[in-house]
Amino acid sequence: MGLLREGINEVIATTYQNAAPMGLIYRNQVVRMVVFRGSHTAERIRKHGWVVANFIYDPVVYVKTAFEDLPQEDFVGEQVGEIFVQRLSGAEAWAAYHAEVDQETDEALIVTLSLLEEKIATLALHPINRGFNSIIDATVHATRFQQSRDHRLHDLIRHHASLVRRCGGARELEALDLLYTYLDFGNEE
Ligand SMILES: Cc1cc2nc3c(=O)[nH]c(=O)nc-3n(C[C@H](O)[C@H](O)[C@H](O)COP(=O)(O)O)c2cc1C
Repeated sequence: MGLLREGINEVIATTYQNAAPMGLIYRNQVVRMVVFRGSHTAERIRKHGWVVANFIYDPVVYVKTAFEDLPQEDFVGEQVGEIFVQRLSGAEAWAAYHAEVDQETDEALIVTLSLLEEKIATLALHPINRGFNSIIDATVHATRFQQSRDHRLHDLIRHHASLVRRCGGARELEALDLLYTYLDFGNEE
């Protein structure tokens, strides 16, 4: 399936005037998303029927889009066949999909994606960095912690934060500061 790899691809999903980190699940030649009800992404997929996967390696963008909106100037319009979609200006590559809600549970929509078009804008090497990976993990836990205040999630966030401090670069440290600000964690180690 083009740019995706098998398993869960953690991308920044854009829908109409909205961006959020989302997992695109690619298994058995099918691409799906499980999108929690109440999110803007769920609402916009239902309304407009498209989603764009943005491949981006900026940890700050993952933290920011998990907790707030991006300014409209960060979105770039693309005509894809008959549909007008929006991707992020900083995307190194993007893939636009038709999105159809297949199933609904009390908590989430299960959405099947069909590829419309994909493009690579820049080709860059991203050496594996545990600091970057830990920002992604800490941010996943943080979005859940915000709902539940579960202390086990708090411990996981702190574990990943220590890896970010050990293995990350300046941008990962900036992302961690931002994450701690959203969580109101102060300067705790
Ligand atoms: C790496 C990562 C992956 C995520 N994957 C999903 C997902 O697959 N489905 C989902 O509903 N939320 C997912 N989230 C949480 C959403 O990004 C978060 O709830 C966000 O606030 C939704 O924003 P929205 O209201 O603009 O759609 C993920 C978060 C992170 C950091």
